[in-house]
Amino acid sequence: MSLGFVPTMGALHQGHLSLLKKSRSQNELSLCSIFINPTQFNNKADLKNYPSRLKEDIKLLGAAGCDVVFTPPVSEIYPGGLPSEEYDFGQLDKVMEGVQRPGHFNGVAMVVARFFEIIQPQRAYFGEKDYQQLAIIRSLAAQKFKNIEIVSCPTLREKSGLAMSSRNLLLNERYQIAAQRIYQRLLSVKKRAKNANVAELELWVANEFKKDGDLVLEYFEIVDAKSLKKSTGWSDFPEHVACLAVFAGTTRLIDNILLKIN
Ligand code: PAF
Repeated sequence: MSLGFVPTMGALHQGHLSLLKKSRSQNELSLCSIFINPTQFNNKADLKNYPSRLKEDIKLLGAAGCDVVFTPPVSEIYPGGLPSEEYDFGQLDKVMEGVQRPGHFNGVAMVVARFFEIIQPQRAYFGEKDYQQLAIIRSLAAQKFKNIEIVSCPTLREKSGLAMSSRNLLLNERYQIAAQRIYQRLLSVKKRAKNANVAELELWVANEFKKDGDLVLEYFEIVDAKSLKKSTGWSDFPEHVACLAVFAGTTRLIDNILLKIN
């Protein structure tokens, strides 16, 4: 019997449910975990403020046909206390989120590895909004879990274009409106990429955010869609991905867009 696994940290939205839908279409049974993993938060306030809505989440999953919901306590996932395992992802965690959130991907890998060991799914589902995380998980699976197929699922967006994220719950009305500009700028990047080089685009994005009263850009990088190595020109790689992290007030949001230039 095939088992599909959808790992989440709760505060579920349609994006999560689209992963479950995909899992249900490919497996006989689907399991969703809800676990706010302390080892992937490099910032204590971020962990404390992370939205939690367990009751509503369980209802949503039931209505969406999830077979099993796994909501373990921290002591079940890390019975010996928080571990200090170190993973090697080469270049993949040396850029973008890896630089801004030291230890984050090691914590993600730790918890996903633990889940893979406990649940032993045939397939596991991850969203493309967390593009770098997806690359890390593919590398983890290639290193330690060759039997588990990693299935990527497209980013779901609000009508406004804002990428669905549990963190959107933390945005007040002012920042909800401001956050819509993130994807609009990524779409402009894609359009402008036909007539501009990488450095020009990076400068354009930096300037747009400098002029923005409500959004603060943490990083914007154009990298190889596979290795995540920094792109210096369009001919460097067959496909690039433009990724950014932005603060809307105190809420940190990430998004990305694929760029196929040639
Ligand atoms: O993407 C997430 O929600 C988390 O990083 C994950 C994969 C559930 C691990 O805690």
